Amino acid sequence: ADEVKELQEAILRLKQEKEAIILAHYYQRPEIQDIADFVGDSLELSRQAAETPAKVLVFCGVHFMAETAAILSPDKVVLLPDINAGCPMADMATPEAVRAKREALGDCLVVCYVNTSAAVKAESDVACTSANAVEVVGKLPREKTILFIPDRNLGLYVKRFYPDREIVLWEGYCWVHEHVTPVHVWKAKEAHPEAKVLVHPECRPEVINLADAVASTSGMLRYARESEAREFIVVTEEGLLHQLRRACPDKQFYLASPCLECPDMKKITLAKVYESLVRLEPRVEVPRSIRERAYLTVERMLGLKG
Ligand code: 13P
Ligand code: SF4
Repeated sequence: ADEVKELQEAILRLKQEKEAIILAHYYQRPEIQDIADFVGDSLELSRQAAETPAKVLVFCGVHFMAETAAILSPDKVVLLPDINAGCPMADMATPEAVRAKREALGDCLVVCYVNTSAAVKAESDVACTSANAVEVVGKLPREKTILFIPDRNLGLYVKRFYPDREIVLWEGYCWVHEHVTPVHVWKAKEAHPEAKVLVHPECRPEVINLADAVASTSGMLRYARESEAREFIVVTEEGLLHQLRRACPDKQFYLASPCLECPDMKKITLAKVYESLVRLEPRVEVPRSIRERAYLTVERMLGLKG
């Protein structure tokens, strides 16, 4: 515990010295979340990255998130403390495959989940996150076919709101969320019959059907805070429990499955954060030709001017 504290203090000193800020996703290890200037869901993190005046961003998350920060803030140094922290779902869509599908469909709009590489964003029309996917699709012209990439489960969830729209899905998924089945939820409900069920839209439709609330990580946090309920079954990555328990110390949270852990998110450690601040490496950079097109895709989502 002392070692952790020492390392945390060393990071905070170094951070000031380098005029850096630390952004962390809710799926990060608790000791990382605790030293972050900002902890958030994917949408909030991209907003923060766009708005902060800091010159150096230490991104505690996965590669596509750091890339999104680099797309929005090309003049900043964006560090990803472990360059191999990726997202298997993001890798399920390549720019070539997206281009081919777009050509095959003809006149369509490509909506990309933020869990995509910058190169795939460059091939897309508008980005979305789990917090705003329904809203983003709702703003697009009704007559247009939509190609929704890469998360099939999130796409199916969005489709529930627009049964008359043509939404073509992609065969991508997050295996961390995908492994959860209704049996996990039923068992958890049996053990905790009073608990409300919080489900991330990356889960299978049959799991979403059992939810009291379907929400992004921040949405779950808000729901738990505002709810009268005392107990919650959480169907998302376990890192969120840290903030849930912190925000609601008198409420109980149970993970639907012990396997709800994303190994890529957990690649970021305090030691690697420290190292990255010392060396100002590894950096995530997006080549200009990709960045300019990817920027438009993210900008359309955020409603920024520019
Ligand atoms: P949100 O934080 O947007 O809910 O994203 C979940 C996720 O899987 C990020 O990798
Ligand atoms: Fe990707 Fe799933 Fe991990 Fe999020 S939790 S980074 S979607 S693999």
